[in-house]
Amino acid sequence: MNDLSENSSNEFILSFEDSADRVPVLWLHGFPLNNTMWDLQVAGLSDVARLITPDLRGHGLTEATSVTPYSMELMAGDCIRILDHLGCQGPVVVAGLSMGGYLAFEICRRFPERVAGLILAATKATADTEEVKLNRDNSARIVMSDGVKPVVDGLLPKLLSPKAYEDDPDLVDFLRDMMLLTSPEGIAGAQGAMRDRPDSTPDLPDLNIPTLIIHGDEDQLIPLDEAKAMAAALPEAELVIIPGAGHMPNLEQPMVFNDAVREFLEVFYGE
Ligand code: MLT
Repeated sequence: MNDLSENSSNEFILSFEDSADRVPVLWLHGFPLNNTMWDLQVAGLSDVARLITPDLRGHGLTEATSVTPYSMELMAGDCIRILDHLGCQGPVVVAGLSMGGYLAFEICRRFPERVAGLILAATKATADTEEVKLNRDNSARIVMSDGVKPVVDGLLPKLLSPKAYEDDPDLVDFLRDMMLLTSPEGIAGAQGAMRDRPDSTPDLPDLNIPTLIIHGDEDQLIPLDEAKAMAAALPEAELVIIPGAGHMPNLEQPMVFNDAVREFLEVFYGE
């Protein structure tokens, strides 16, 4: 485990993993997961990319902080600290799944000079509706009073395609265990950060960087139309639709997912 706790104004463990010395790709996990959701990408793509996989605040091995709610700005700053620590001063490819994609847009807004390209998986540019915001407040209240389990039980069946949920108990267990590790504060903090995130749609036409969008056509949490809308609005985007995949295409169909990423990285960032 790597640990950034040397800065006295930020005294909490900020954990991440790093891999080989290739085009740097910062992998931002979804909610309420952690960097182990990228294990199959680390295993399958380390020969073409340097994979940097933070645990976001309050998730995985990164400690929760008492600053709640968290914000996309705060988490973007955490990611840039990790890149600085690693000496990655130049632009990197930022890859985000779902909440990780929301965060990727924030990094583009605040640190455009640090972003060479984007991989947007199972995510969207639009902000929350008022109804979703209220649901997030509710979920934050429940997790602080009743613990993580009710939130995990509610979310788990929607993370995968119905078939994967039925047929792949190991994957279901893997995701359940990962989510149960997340602290209540981390879940509540992240719900607040997602609730307050701005609409990134107006930013899309100005994101003149290579972008790969990957989306499963059985995503129950973010409809495929959101990915199509991003692809239409982004100047340099390619959309890869994975038939039969749900909200976790990198885990449900890792070979297809990794092949798409490999081709994207080789075309735009290869030697
Ligand atoms: C995620 O997978 O990161 C979340 O479902 C995103 C969200 O709640 O909007």
